[in-house]
Amino acid sequence: MLRVGIIGLGYAGRQHLDAWLQNSEAEVKVICDQNEAIARPPAEEHHLKYVKDYTELVRDKEIDAVSICTPDHMHAEQALAAVQSGKHVFCEKPLATNVLDCQRIVEAVDKSKVKFLTGQVLRFAPFFQSLKSIYTSGMLGEAFFAESDYIHDLRPFLSGWRCGAGTAGDLTLSGGCHPVDLLRWIVGEIDEVYANSNKLALKEAPFPADNILLTLKFRSGATGKVQITTGCRRPYALNLSVYGTKGTLMNNKLYTEDIRLLEDFIDLPLPQKAQYQYYDKETEELVSAIKEDREPSVSALEGARTVAVCQAGIESAARNCPVKVFEF
Ligand SMILES: NC(=O)c1ccc[n+]([C@@H]2O[C@H](COP(=O)([O-])OP(=O)(O)OC[C@H]3O[C@@H](n4cnc5c(N)ncnc54)[C@H](O)[C@@H]3O)[C@@H](O)[C@H]2O)c1
Repeated sequence: MLRVGIIGLGYAGRQHLDAWLQNSEAEVKVICDQNEAIARPPAEEHHLKYVKDYTELVRDKEIDAVSICTPDHMHAEQALAAVQSGKHVFCEKPLATNVLDCQRIVEAVDKSKVKFLTGQVLRFAPFFQSLKSIYTSGMLGEAFFAESDYIHDLRPFLSGWRCGAGTAGDLTLSGGCHPVDLLRWIVGEIDEVYANSNKLALKEAPFPADNILLTLKFRSGATGKVQITTGCRRPYALNLSVYGTKGTLMNNKLYTEDIRLLEDFIDLPLPQKAQYQYYDKETEELVSAIKEDREPSVSALEGARTVAVCQAGIESAARNCPVKVFEF
């Protein structure tokens, strides 16, 4: 049994707690939140030890693995402490808020024997796994253009650390890491980013922009686009399209020259969701990686490369010019 501790018991932490409780090869032992009122009720309900200070949790010899579900800007310090204490880690996205911190985490993981999973949850969604398998099957040929949108009305979430001074961060990373990671995973590495953004919808929010367009150059020569739109008045959407030399995929719509005389897109009956919650699959992946002594499918390095693309987008918006992506 993998003995687990969870840091941060807000929205994501409760999802991790449920996922770990359902995992028959794991046992949650300790939960930590700086806000005792948040963590005491689940601790009592599930007979778990509660600690207020995360350093106590990562030093606990009764713990093998740590879930990190705290605000984005805390991931780096807590992930490093957990890895340096020899704990396996499941860290929520984004891995960290800058490339330097990502590099520190990647180096610490490389020097250790621990397994590290970055919580880029969309990679665990059957819908996106199917889209990836369509692309890798060759049915679309070589991609020359790919795009992904993160469309999320964030008005209900404009409080707490997401809007705090010094903690609000940049939506290019906090929201943009989802579509950027999908494109990297399916189409390949991104070399250069050019950002164009505005802030006309969430005028009071502390983010530099609420509507961000990233144009991308993939290493393969393909071009790409990411749209991060958060002040929208419409339901959530996470869109993905890949245009290839033999066919086109637009979410669940497929057109391919492999099928002769096809006159229109085929609607694929794939499980597209209004929300993608696959925390159970992520815990299963970490447990399997530990048992099989292999790197988890979304390693620290994978998380770091996604942060690097987003950081290039942030720098591009600030400097108003294309920015090369940092290479790990
Ligand atoms: N995979 C996804 O799609 C997804 C969805 C939501 C959130 N997230 C990520 O999960 C993380 C948490 O987001 P959330 O929505 O759960 O936030 P939240 O505000 O609901 O919860 C954060 C919790 O962390 C606690 N905390 C803060 N600092 C702490 C510290 N130093 N030690 C211990 N506890 C501390 C807070 O008290 C709070 O309970 C973020 O990184 C976010 O980006 C990922």
